[in-house]
Amino acid sequence: MKVIVRPTAAEAGAEAARRVAGLLADGTHPHLGVATGDSPLPLYAELARLVASGLDLSAVHAHALDEYVGLPAADPRSYHWFVRHHIAVPLGLDPAHVHVPEGAAPDPHAAADRHEARLRAVGGVQVQILGIGGNGHIGFNEPGSAIGSTTRVVDLTADTIAANQRFFTDGTPVPRQAVTQGVATILSARHLVLVASGEGKARAVRDALHGPVTPDCPASYLQTHPDATLYLDPAAASLLEALVPVPA
Ligand code: F6R
Repeated sequence: MKVIVRPTAAEAGAEAARRVAGLLADGTHPHLGVATGDSPLPLYAELARLVASGLDLSAVHAHALDEYVGLPAADPRSYHWFVRHHIAVPLGLDPAHVHVPEGAAPDPHAAADRHEARLRAVGGVQVQILGIGGNGHIGFNEPGSAIGSTTRVVDLTADTIAANQRFFTDGTPVPRQAVTQGVATILSARHLVLVASGEGKARAVRDALHGPVTPDCPASYLQTHPDATLYLDPAAASLLEALVPVPA
């Protein structure tokens, strides 16, 4: 795994965005895996700036990592909403090219199977953008997830439910299940770009990079991927062993 540390989360995200843009530039495999959450917002902001300056992503298909079970797509806490407002519209994607698991479908297991089948049909994405949970999750592959897991319905851990509580302050219960791409699905991407910032991610980042490859820290599975890069701010990198500096 390669590690790039920049002085701020904004700069780390901007550098990750330039990498993503470069990996999509030749247009031969226009499939981008997208994460939601706070971590990739600077990355999407920089990609939007590049689009405003002439980068054309109109042929790109976006495939989301995950979606809550039972939350309607129109709910502003849903990942459908996040992907539309923070990714599809600012990046000028064709709405027909935006694929988010249908967590509110009557049968979310069948929705998970459809998402997996769509990703397999294209041979995996060119580049998968990832965040990391404080507990080491990627997508919603919580600790205990197997390296061979595929897109499925999962139970969220108490940690993750507590972390998501900040978005559900109106009394709506925090969803307890999600549809998530599996670990094997994520690892089928040709390139992985993980962004993390803040000291709350430091321990998970350290375990992902320096710990054993173990279901206890699903992000540690990235060690088995031929091209995974972490883009970090100093706080997220604060528990790492000495790094070889990468020039700006
Ligand atoms: C989101 C996702 C999650 C988040 C992770 C970090 O699609 O799959 O793995 O990336 O929970 O969330 P933030 O960035 O909000 O701290």
